[in-house]
Amino acid sequence: MLSSQPPRILSGVQPSGKLHLGNYFGAIRQHIALQEKGEAFYFIADYHALTTIQDADQHRSLVHDVALDYLALGLDREKATFFRQSDVPEVTELAWFLATVTGMGLLERAHSYKDKVARGIKSKVGLFFYPVLMAADILAYRSDLVPVGKDQVQHIEMAQDMAEHFHHAFGQKVFRRPEAHLAGEAAVVLGTDGQKMSKSYENTIEIFSEGKPLQKAVMSIVTDSRGVDEPKDPDDCPVYQLYCLIAEPEEAEEMASALRGGGYGYGDAKKTLLTAIESRFSEARERRRELESRPDDVEAVLVEGGRRAREEARDVLGEVREAVGMAGAPIADISS
Ligand code: ADP
Ligand code: TRP
Repeated sequence: MLSSQPPRILSGVQPSGKLHLGNYFGAIRQHIALQEKGEAFYFIADYHALTTIQDADQHRSLVHDVALDYLALGLDREKATFFRQSDVPEVTELAWFLATVTGMGLLERAHSYKDKVARGIKSKVGLFFYPVLMAADILAYRSDLVPVGKDQVQHIEMAQDMAEHFHHAFGQKVFRRPEAHLAGEAAVVLGTDGQKMSKSYENTIEIFSEGKPLQKAVMSIVTDSRGVDEPKDPDDCPVYQLYCLIAEPEEAEEMASALRGGGYGYGDAKKTLLTAIESRFSEARERRRELESRPDDVEAVLVEGGRRAREEARDVLGEVREAVGMAGAPIADISS
């Protein structure tokens, strides 16, 4: 990366369910902050989500929800290119080129794939191939920095490996080397069952949930069986861990000492957490309601973002095609 140029920042989020606090504190919050620091490209990873969502209506509605969430949470279309992954079909083409230089062993080592299969998610070729498509996303836009949660770091290392294998195989350097950019202390946010919070694990607290469903999710956080009067260790308390992400440091310290002192139950902590979640996202919730009434404007943001992103990807694909010995411009030129 040349020091005089702002870094190209890229990340994606799957529309495979409603976005949750893990997505927010592990990824979205820093996506929004980073749009001030470089040239940001953020996309809704709808091709990837097909590995779990295979219902067209649900798919469309989840994509729209993610768009609303990002815009409500502060994504600025002037500062960031915001688009749907599938509006740039060139990434699937690049995935194929990368697949031809990727050993099976590399993919077999993917933690995320192994975890999902261990959790009973059916193993399909698409799920196994997932890191290759993700590498294509990253490399197609000449990304320098990829802000993600800790669980995705291995995928970015795989993208680095695939880029190197490609350069080695074809004797030409076409890709930039991407680096993962981690969200510090919120690298892994735990879900209501104490495992990593994830849409695939039904243990989430959704960012825009409210009323009874939000209350139900917060109250379902699993804690140990210590009674109200007993002193509790805040570091062992999942409610406190979540509260730390949301509350001011003094407020978090107040909860920590109440837990340590006894006479303060997990139920009390959950009520405090609930109020904090409601107030933390209240402004975004208002903005989201307003955007909900303008679906065409939201769609227009994605279409315009897709057009910009596609220009970039087509440029890179031209170089890739030349490097492998094919005509530079893909045939898709006929429709433009
Ligand atoms: P999910 O596991 O819920 O399907 P995704 O895989 O779509 O979430 O992740 C979207 C982004 O949110 C990624 O950058 C990922 O690292 C981050 N992320 C997801 N879950 C968590 C979590 N529990 N803690 C921290 N970051 C997370
Ligand atoms: N796999 C990512 C996730 O589940 C989503 C994603 C797809 C992504 N392509 C990407 C993230 C490229 C960063 C860069 O979170």
